[in-house]
Amino acid sequence: MKVLITGAGGQLGCDLATQLKERGHYVIATDIAARPTNIPADQWHHLDVSDKSSVISLFRQDNPEVVYHLAAILSARGEEIPQQTYRVNEIGTFNVLEACREAQVRQLMYCSSIAVFGAGTPDPTPDDTFLMPTTMYGVTKVGGELLGNYYHSRWGFDFRGVRFPGLISAALPGGGTSDYALYMYVDGVRIGAYESFCRPDTRIPLMYMPDALRALIDLSEAPREKLKRCVYNISAFSPEASVIAASVAAAVPAVKLTFRPDPKRQSILDSWPNALDDTCAREDWGWSPQFDLEGMTADLIPKIRALLKETE
Ligand code: SER
Repeated sequence: MKVLITGAGGQLGCDLATQLKERGHYVIATDIAARPTNIPADQWHHLDVSDKSSVISLFRQDNPEVVYHLAAILSARGEEIPQQTYRVNEIGTFNVLEACREAQVRQLMYCSSIAVFGAGTPDPTPDDTFLMPTTMYGVTKVGGELLGNYYHSRWGFDFRGVRFPGLISAALPGGGTSDYALYMYVDGVRIGAYESFCRPDTRIPLMYMPDALRALIDLSEAPREKLKRCVYNISAFSPEASVIAASVAAAVPAVKLTFRPDPKRQSILDSWPNALDDTCAREDWGWSPQFDLEGMTADLIPKIRALLKETE
């Protein structure tokens, strides 16, 4: 099957492209950023999703069956450049949906986020509750969900999405507010120290990358008649930041993990749910995470060490 990925140069995209290829798909990777080394030049296109005519002509030319729409500016960076974040995330998603319609793409996979929620949601937070995000990133993710639902009900378009927790992997992300968790691992191993920009009692939903990739691919492959909705909460674990630090410290002797909250990013973190209720995903398409915090620590630290050796 021919699959196109937008935002393929990002934290999720690099790993997703590899996984989809391993499953035998022909992957066309696109991004506004430079081509990552693991993607061959003939399977790569420069693409700015906020430029509608480029998106439509690329989709028409390459004719993908399924599109994974990953291109987005994340929450912390988004607060520095809200107008551009609206263009890329909101208009970009509209352009991608329109291009799917014009080029008769069969299915669009969408990455939503815990950032669609604002403070005061029930704990754990169910799929259907009020959506009052405080960040431009969150606003645009709500907008993307609503647009996709509209295309589904108006044209029967096969739009599917997951609300990702903060994602942790060996790849360095850019501009997320959940990045403190990931940097405890990466800088903990690389430098032997990391100062988190949050309080030690901060608690948001998190997930290890292999589970996140499996969620996207499993949802894409689920029979449509089993799906009672277009966008699903998915959840894995929600440790306090201090508990993540303890898990890293147990695996990386003498690591120095400290906390100095940054008010702006802390207020974003405080507005997000502590935990998500993912009952619907479990019931409709059999979602279940494989990694808890300790399982992730055991798997991830050797991967980061190997990656650092490669780049030495
Ligand atoms: N990881 C994202 C962020 O921090 C949330 O989905 O912006």
